[in-house]
Amino acid sequence: MASIDRPKILVFGVGGVGTIYLYLLSRVSSPTAVCRSNYEVVRNDGFIINSSIYGNGIRLKPNVVRDCAEATFRDSRPFDYILICSKAIGQDIPDLISPAVTPDHTVIVLIQNGIGIEAHYQATFPNNPIVSAVVYLPVTQRPAGVITHGELERLEIGSYPSSASSEHSEAFTQLIRHAGGTAEHHDDIQLKRWTKLLVNASWNPICALTLCTDANFLLSSPSSSELVSDVMLEICDIAKAHGYTIPKEILELQLGRATARIGNGNGVEPSMLQDVRAGRRMEVEAIVGNAVRMGREKDVKCEKLNMLYLLARALDSQIENKRRTS
Ligand SMILES: *[C@@H]1O[C@H](CO)[C@@H](O)[C@H](O)[C@H]1NC(C)=O
Ligand SMILES: *[C@@H]1O[C@H](CO)[C@@H](O)[C@H](O)[C@H]1NC(C)=O
Repeated sequence: MASIDRPKILVFGVGGVGTIYLYLLSRVSSPTAVCRSNYEVVRNDGFIINSSIYGNGIRLKPNVVRDCAEATFRDSRPFDYILICSKAIGQDIPDLISPAVTPDHTVIVLIQNGIGIEAHYQATFPNNPIVSAVVYLPVTQRPAGVITHGELERLEIGSYPSSASSEHSEAFTQLIRHAGGTAEHHDDIQLKRWTKLLVNASWNPICALTLCTDANFLLSSPSSSELVSDVMLEICDIAKAHGYTIPKEILELQLGRATARIGNGNGVEPSMLQDVRAGRRMEVEAIVGNAVRMGREKDVKCEKLNMLYLLARALDSQIENKRRTS
C-alpha cells in the first residue's frame, strides 16, 4: 500500500536529520512535520538549510503540527509512513506517535542511533511494518530553524526484524532515492547497526565523560588508545554473541582515523559531547545501555563498556536534574 505515487508522510522529530529528510521528501510528497521545541519558529518562518550538498540559503516551509493528534485531525487519510528522527531518549515515543499510526497500514521508519531500539515499537504496533535505518548525516540545528549540513548523506535501510518481508523497506529505499537521497537496502540491517555502534558506543561516552574530542583523548595519555580499542573489542564480542561479526579492519580503520586527526589538530566532537556541552540529555541507553544489556544476556564480559555506561548514565541523570530545576 505504501508504494503509492505521493505517499502521505509524517516526520516526527525535526532536528537536523529530520529536516534534511523533510526537505528531500518534499520533492516527492507533501510531508508534515511534528515540531516540538522549534514549533513557533518553523511555523512562522520555516527552515533555512545551508548544505554542502544541496546548496546554501534553501528555504523550506513544511506543514507543521504540534503533535500527532493534530496531524491526523487536519486530514483523515491514513499516513503511509511515519519517520522517527528524534533522539532515542526516553521510552514514550511509541505513545506519542500512536494517534498517527493506522494499524496494518502505516510503515514506521526508525532513523535513530543505537542498538535494540526497535523492539519497543514492535511491541506497541505488532501489526505495522517496521523499517530500521542507520543514518550518516553530519547536521546541526542552531538556532531553531537554521540547519547546517556537511558533505555526507547516507541511509542504510532494512526491515525489522530482518526475517520480515522486505517489501516495505525496499519501497522506502526507492522513495528516498526518488527524492534524490542516498539509500542502500540491506537484508540484515542489524550488522550495519553494530558497525556504527562500534564507533558510537565507544567514543561517545569517552568523549562526553572527559570533555575531550577523540584526538584530544588519544593525546591525553600513552594508554588511551588501548582503552578505546579494548572497548571496541568488547562491542565486537557482544555483536558476535548475537550473530554479527564486525570485520576487524573496521576496528583498525576507526582507530586509525582518530589517530590521524591528532596530526591536524582537529578531532571529532561526538554527539554526546555536544550534548553535555549544551546541557542536553544524551542517548545513553540506546547507544551504550542496550549494548551492555545485550552483552549480559549472552554472558559476554564487557566490564569497560559497563563502566562507561554507568558513569555516562550518572552524568546524564545530573543533566536531567539540572534541566528540571532550571
Ligand atoms: C547560510 O547561507 C547564507 C547564504 O549563503 C548565509 O547568508 C548565512 O549566513 C548562512 N547561515 C549559516 C548559519 O551558516
Ligand atoms: C557515530 O559514528 C559515526 C561514524 O561511524 C559518526 O559519523 C557519528 O558522528 C557518530 N554519531 C554519534 C551519535 O556519535
